Order: sequence, then C-alpha cells, then structure tokens
Amino acid sequence: MKKRVAVLMGGFSGEREVSLSSAQGVLMALQELGHEAIPIDVTRNMEKLVQNLEIHKPDVVLNILHGRWGEDGCIQGLLEMMDIPYSHSGVLGSALSMNKIVARNICQVKGIRIPEGQVAQLVDVCAGHIMKPPFVIKPIGEGSSLGVHIILDETTPLPNPQEWPFEEEVLVEKYIPGREIQVAVLGGKAIGAIEIRPHGTFYDYEAKYTDGKAIHLMPAPIHPEVYAQVLEWAEKAHKGLECRGVSRSDFRYDDTHGEPGTLYYLETNPQPGLTPLSLVPEIVAHEGMTYAQLVQWMVEDASCRR
Ligand SMILES: Nc1ncnc2c1ncn2[C@@H]1O[C@H](COP(=O)(O)OP(=O)(O)OP(=O)(O)O)[C@@H](O)[C@H]1O
Ligand SMILES: [Mg+2]
Repeated sequence: MKKRVAVLMGGFSGEREVSLSSAQGVLMALQELGHEAIPIDVTRNMEKLVQNLEIHKPDVVLNILHGRWGEDGCIQGLLEMMDIPYSHSGVLGSALSMNKIVARNICQVKGIRIPEGQVAQLVDVCAGHIMKPPFVIKPIGEGSSLGVHIILDETTPLPNPQEWPFEEEVLVEKYIPGREIQVAVLGGKAIGAIEIRPHGTFYDYEAKYTDGKAIHLMPAPIHPEVYAQVLEWAEKAHKGLECRGVSRSDFRYDDTHGEPGTLYYLETNPQPGLTPLSLVPEIVAHEGMTYAQLVQWMVEDASCRR
C-alpha cells in the first residue's frame, strides 16, 4: 500500500551532514517504492516543523535524524504527542541508548561485557587523575565518533578542556585493542556482524564517511563462537535498551592473544546511518535485503508508543 511518508532530516546536531546523506538514499528508495515522500529539513524552528506535519498529514514519519534532539527521545516525544507513527526507537529507547553511561550500565546488568570505564570531568582526565593510557575519551551523548579521542600513550595529545565543545562530563574507557565489529538488529533480531578495518588509528569520522578509508568485511571473519556471541549481545542490548525497529550495536573484539578472544560492548545506535558507506544497509544486503526493502521495512514497522 502506498503511503505519505514524511522524512525528517538534517537537524541541528553535529551529525547534520550525515543525516542529509542518509536521507538522500531514503528519499530515492521511497520514490522507487512508489510512496509519496515529503522531505522535511528539521531546524530549531519547532513551530515550523509542527506546521509542516499538520499541513502534510503524513501516514508515517521516517526519522532519519542522527545525534542530539533527533535520536535521543526529544523529537520522538513530539511525534508521540502528535500521534504520528514514526520509525526507529521510541522516547525511552532513544534516550537510554544515546546516553553511553546509561547504556553501558544496562548492558552490564544484562550480562554483556563492557570496557572498564568511568564518568569524569575532562579537566581531571587531562590532568592524569583518572586513568593511565591507553584509554579513550568520549562525549556521553554524541555519535559519528565526534569528540572521541584515543589516548594510546603519554605522548598522545590530549583535548584542550577550554576548547571542548561538548559537555564537560565525559566517559573514559580503557582502550580495547584488536578489532571493530558491528551488528545490525531489525525488529529484535540480529541480522549479521560486520568487521571494519580502518586505515588510520581508529574508526573516526573520516573513516566512516570517506570512501576508501576503511575495509569492510561481511560477514566478520571471526571465530564462530564469538560471531554467535556478538549477535546474541546485540539482540540483548536492543531489547535491554527498549529499542524498536532498526538498531546497530558496536563492539571491540580483543583477539591479540589469539582466537577466541574477548568481546566488549561499546554502544547502541538507535538511528544508525543509512549513507552509502553505512553498515546496516551493507549487513542486510548480505542477507539479500536491498536498501529499498530496508526502507519499506521501516515504513511498515513505524508506530507510536515505545
Ligand atoms: N574502549 C574503546 N577501545 C578501543 N576503541 C574504542 C573504544 N571506544 C571507542 N573506540 C573507537 O571509537 C569509535 C567510536 O566510538 P563509539 O562507537 O563509542 O562512538 P560514537 O561517536 O557513538 O559512534 P557512532 O555513533 O558513529 O557509532 C569506535 O568505533 C572505536 O573505533
Ligand atoms: Mg559507534
């Protein structure tokens, strides 16, 4: 059945460009599927957004925003209040997942291994009071590796707390050597795990969105027991964090002492990227689902409440 589908895109987080890139693919897919697509560029002007939604009266909203306000429960709250079915996680799932501290705690309770870590003020981290290298500094609620700093040893430059654009409170985690594994979950079921081998030091913004900056290996060529475990943990994380629709959970796999090694959970993305280099489309493609079929799945899965 053909639907009127509003695509929320852009937004005003640090991931605006990523969202616009994801939305470009989604809009093309909607056209291919024969739906009526209504692109809506989300700005700070909420009145305009509400007006747009009231004028167009979409059957469904595809929420293709990334980062703060679009992925953390804020916009989901508005859509709940307007009673418009929307894709991906609801208010609670979005809020729980986008707070890396809360997500870590919930996942640990569910029996998922997390790297040793703690919440600290950036100034204390930089003064060397929190952890000895190697460690990782991360903003608590950002995405696309924005603000992520890998401090491998004493010679690695630290961020300047005076020029830090994120909240002063950060997550500091032990650096986990080894490999980068990510899992796509659709409707509570893990679809597959991919390995990413960035050419640089880590899977940073550039490696995520510039062609040729990382190798993708699908399915992840890891020990079969670990492959099974990473799928199971991604499903547990999706469920434990009250996610809905599509999510992607990210892991580190330390095999530096041989396989099977030790798996660590990093985080869950309740609105994973849908750009040409994004991983969820690549993982589902390996299982025979095209990008357009993924978009159709999201249109059908959209709902209100939870
Ligand atoms: N504890 C860690 N040990 C080793 N590498 C890490 C660790 N934490 C993060 N990284 C590296 O930094 C990258 C980004 O971290 P993380 O996934 O937590 O941030 P993000 O900004 O929310 O990413 P996105 O939303 O794009 O998935 C990871 O993919 C990994 O390469
Ligand atoms: Mg990540």
